[in-house]
Amino acid sequence: MGSTHDTSVQTVVLGITGCIAAYKACELTRALMREGIRVKAVMTEAATHFVGPLTLRTLTDQPVAVSLWDDPGSSPVHHISLAEEADVFVIAPATANVIAKLAQGRADDILTTTALATEATLVIAPAMNTHMWRAEATRANLQTLRDRGAVIVEPESGELACGDVGEGRLAPLEDIMDAVRYELSRSLDLSDRHVLVTAGPTYEPIDPVRFIGNASSGKTGYAIAEECARRGARVTLVSGPTALSDPFEVDTVRVTTALEMQAAVRRAFGDADAVIATAAVSDFRPEVFSSDKVKKGEAPDSVRLVRNPDILEGLGEDKIDTVLIGFAAETQDVEQYARLKLESKNLDLVVANDVSVPGLGFGGDMNKVILVDRHGTRELPTASKRVIARSIADELSRLLCERDIRL
Ligand SMILES: Cc1cc2nc3c(=O)[nH]c(=O)nc-3n(C[C@H](O)[C@H](O)[C@H](O)COP(=O)(O)O)c2cc1C
Repeated sequence: MGSTHDTSVQTVVLGITGCIAAYKACELTRALMREGIRVKAVMTEAATHFVGPLTLRTLTDQPVAVSLWDDPGSSPVHHISLAEEADVFVIAPATANVIAKLAQGRADDILTTTALATEATLVIAPAMNTHMWRAEATRANLQTLRDRGAVIVEPESGELACGDVGEGRLAPLEDIMDAVRYELSRSLDLSDRHVLVTAGPTYEPIDPVRFIGNASSGKTGYAIAEECARRGARVTLVSGPTALSDPFEVDTVRVTTALEMQAAVRRAFGDADAVIATAAVSDFRPEVFSSDKVKKGEAPDSVRLVRNPDILEGLGEDKIDTVLIGFAAETQDVEQYARLKLESKNLDLVVANDVSVPGLGFGGDMNKVILVDRHGTRELPTASKRVIARSIADELSRLLCERDIRL
């Protein structure tokens, strides 16, 4: 993440693909550079038929990547160094072809390989004939990319190079610039913050093979941890049992029970600027743990349960200036319960969702949440957990700034 050279200057890697609008990438380059942004151009082979690499080389004062097999001089693996240097990866104009390749995760040229390797947000500005733009395949590919967190700068309607009039013309330069400015501003907005995230379920053992658990997949918490790390935070993720692999550049602590989670959270809480508690901590645990497997014929009629500690409530009681964000999975009166939780647990924000809606929430990739804080309630549109993670990181960034002003 970020430039490996002068980190005080932000870097946009600008991907250019094979369409008539490719010449507009030159204007975009100049506009970016006027704002002090370093631009590194990556072109597909098709793009070089529309605009010369030498033009981009001269405008950017940087080598231009056009092939995986070029010798870039400074780096042995050019696509990886470019991917790491990008604070934002802009593809403008983007062809239908490159959008399809990105959606599939293909990596058969320098542009798509770099795009697949980068951690930076992708800002994609499509340009194409109206029928290509409206094609079902293009719509589906763009939705896939949106769900993965790419920002799509929608094309406008107008006269197209092919003579048609309709949607598909590259968005105005200022729209693309606005999207890039916004993404650059949030690419490092959590720098120097320590964010503690909890995720997943807890398992409360009855015997060595049986437990009380719940259906939390951990996906939301992992996506939030990853997003905060990407935006510069030091992240500790305390995770119950999940099938997910440790997020990149996140200190992941694996636990099983609620008591273990509480201990791990307490250890990290001291120097945390913020806690985002997404874990579905079991409210109860069996009073007795049998160290031997309970035989089928010897099963008790009932299992006596005792209450687990409420980890978040404990943090709310002890916090001085730590930002606390809690989650509420409800099946009815979602907003009402969320507001109750906000106040009773001394939280700064509650992210609430209705887990009774089929296909949303637990387990799936999509969710629909409302954000409840002291100022009011805001409903976010149905989106992938990755996109929701970004909105929650935006909220966190805002709450940390408000806290800084108070301190
Ligand atoms: C004159 C001409 C103009 C083109 N304009 C576009 C365009 O605006 N949008 C698009 O998606 N494809 C356009 N194409 C088709 C792409 O160049 C073609 O799909 C190519 O394979 C894209 O390669 P790339 O995605 O690797 O850059 C055009 C082709 C030609 C010959």
